[in-house]
Amino acid sequence: MKLITCNANRPLAEAIADHLDCPLSKAEIKNFADDEIFVRINENVRGEDVFLIQSTSKPANDNLMELLIAIDALARASADRITAVIPYFGYARQDRKTDGRTPISAKLVANLISTAGADRVLTMDLHAGQIQGFFDVPTDNLVAMPVIEDDIRTTHNGADLMVVSPDVGGVVRARNLANRLGCDLAIVDKRRPEAGKSEVMNIIGDVTDRRCILVDDICDSGGTLVNAAKALKEAGATGVSAYVTHGVLSNNAVKRIEDSVMEEIVICDTIRPTEEDFKSGSLRVLSVAPLLGEAIRRIANNESVSKLFD
Ligand code: R5P
Repeated sequence: MKLITCNANRPLAEAIADHLDCPLSKAEIKNFADDEIFVRINENVRGEDVFLIQSTSKPANDNLMELLIAIDALARASADRITAVIPYFGYARQDRKTDGRTPISAKLVANLISTAGADRVLTMDLHAGQIQGFFDVPTDNLVAMPVIEDDIRTTHNGADLMVVSPDVGGVVRARNLANRLGCDLAIVDKRRPEAGKSEVMNIIGDVTDRRCILVDDICDSGGTLVNAAKALKEAGATGVSAYVTHGVLSNNAVKRIEDSVMEEIVICDTIRPTEEDFKSGSLRVLSVAPLLGEAIRRIANNESVSKLFD
C-alpha cells in the first residue's frame, strides 16, 4: 500500500500515516508561474494499491485540480488501484438544480474524479448520502458520528441533553446521534431567503432547561448555527454547543461564533482550520485520522468497512 497526499491538509495525512504506520510517499506538487499545477510522484508506484489523500476544501478549485492531476500522474505511472481519499468533498451542496439553467456541479466533479483515473472513492459525511450514486466507481461514505458521540459523552457527561438539528435536511443525522446518546431530539425550522442567509422560523420540540447540542455536516459562514443557538436560548435552553464534521469556516465564521450565545463549536479535522481559527477559545478540533486510517486498512485488505460502525 502507498499513501500520498496533496497540499490541502498535510497534518491530517500525516496523522493517517502515523495510524497506519506507513510513511507518506514522496510527491512534488507545485505551481508554474501562470498557476498551472504540476505533480511528480517521486517513488515507484507501479502495481501498487495507492491511497491519495486530498480534501477539495478552500481554495476549492486549486485543491480539486491538484487531486485530478495527481490521480492522472498515478494512473500514468501504472498504479494498480487508485483510491481518492476525499475527507471533505466540496461542491456537494450543488447536488440538484435549484433553479432553471443551473448546474449539478457535484455530479460534474464526481465525473471528473473517475475520468481522471480514480478506481475508488473514500469520503466522509457527504452533504447528502445519495451523492454516492454520482460516482461511477465504488464509494465508501464514512460517518464521523462515533468520534462526535465519544466527545459528547466525555464533555457533557450527566447533562440533560437535547440533540438539535439546525434544519430539516439534517434530521436523519441528528436523530441518529440522539438515538446513540439515548436523548431527545428537537428540530429548527430554517429558511434560506437567499444563498448565504438563514432565518429561524420555529423550533419543533420543548428545549426549556435543556442543554442543546446542535449537529450539522457543514459550518460555512456560521449563520445557520449562530441563528439556531440564539433561537434555542430564547426558547429556554440552558446552553448550546455545536458539533460539525466539516469546518468550512468562511467569512469570519469563527469570530461570528465567538460573538454569539454558542459556547463552543467542535469540528473534525477533514479541513484544516487557519492558524488564527485554531487559537480561538470557541473552537475545538477532533481528529478523524484513526477512523480514515482504519477504513484505508480495511479497503487495502478487502475487509468490511461498514463493520467499523457496528
Ligand atoms: C445545509 O444544508 C448544511 O447542512 C449547513 O447547515 C450549511 O451549509 C451551513 O451553512 P452556513 O454556516 O453558511 O449557514
